[in-house]
Amino acid sequence: MPRFEQRPGAAMIDAMTLLTERNSSPKLAAPAPDAAAREAIFSAALRVPDHAWLRPWRFLTVEGEARRDLGSVLEYSLLRREPEADDAAREKARCAPLRAPLVVVVMARLQPHPKVPPQEQRLSAGCAAHAILLAAEAQGYAGIWRTGAGAFDREVVEALGGAENEEIVAFLYLGTREGRGKALPALAVEDFVAPWTGPTHGKETP
Ligand SMILES: Cc1cc2nc3c(=O)[nH]c(=O)nc-3n(C[C@H](O)[C@H](O)[C@H](O)COP(=O)(O)O)c2cc1C
Repeated sequence: MPRFEQRPGAAMIDAMTLLTERNSSPKLAAPAPDAAAREAIFSAALRVPDHAWLRPWRFLTVEGEARRDLGSVLEYSLLRREPEADDAAREKARCAPLRAPLVVVVMARLQPHPKVPPQEQRLSAGCAAHAILLAAEAQGYAGIWRTGAGAFDREVVEALGGAENEEIVAFLYLGTREGRGKALPALAVEDFVAPWTGPTHGKETP
């Protein structure tokens, strides 16, 4: 028995199609993933590779009016970086979280560990972000991973309740795809994959 039921009305998508055809969507409308879909989405995030099982991530959901508060936080962040920012730039920052009915903030929670450097923990949080996008898409929703300068502003992290050892890895915008998905880029596997046949240095010397 699968742990999660398919969302009623959503077309079944097989795992390889999902993995090879996932498509970010900049235009997202309501509805956001419902409670059952979120349970599945965050369960997927909790199953990512995680060295030493540190669980170096946590997730915040921002929706409804809280998106406006996040927008204000992002606008203040912009003004700290660019005090001369014009009205259009301020509005863009302020309204950014309104582009989707649900924003999931993926936080990396970096912990000191003798074998697991911070970079591995950030990567695990990145995997969690990807898992969330995939699990949303698997259930007939859509999303896009965004960051922007605000994500790297310590005061934004603090406004979101983040501690000193926490970082924002993603603002995941989630909802229902508006319009058609964009054409997927045609990338050739062989351009990125090659066999390694041994060290290239020192081959000529005994
Ligand atoms: C770490 C990270 C940060 C990103 N930040 C942004 C961003 O701030 N704004 C944006 O438009 N796209 C951003 N993207 C790219 C989009 O999420 C997406 O990958 C891109 O639009 C290409 O679409 P595709 O993933 O469907 O190929 C980011 C991607 C990653 C991995």
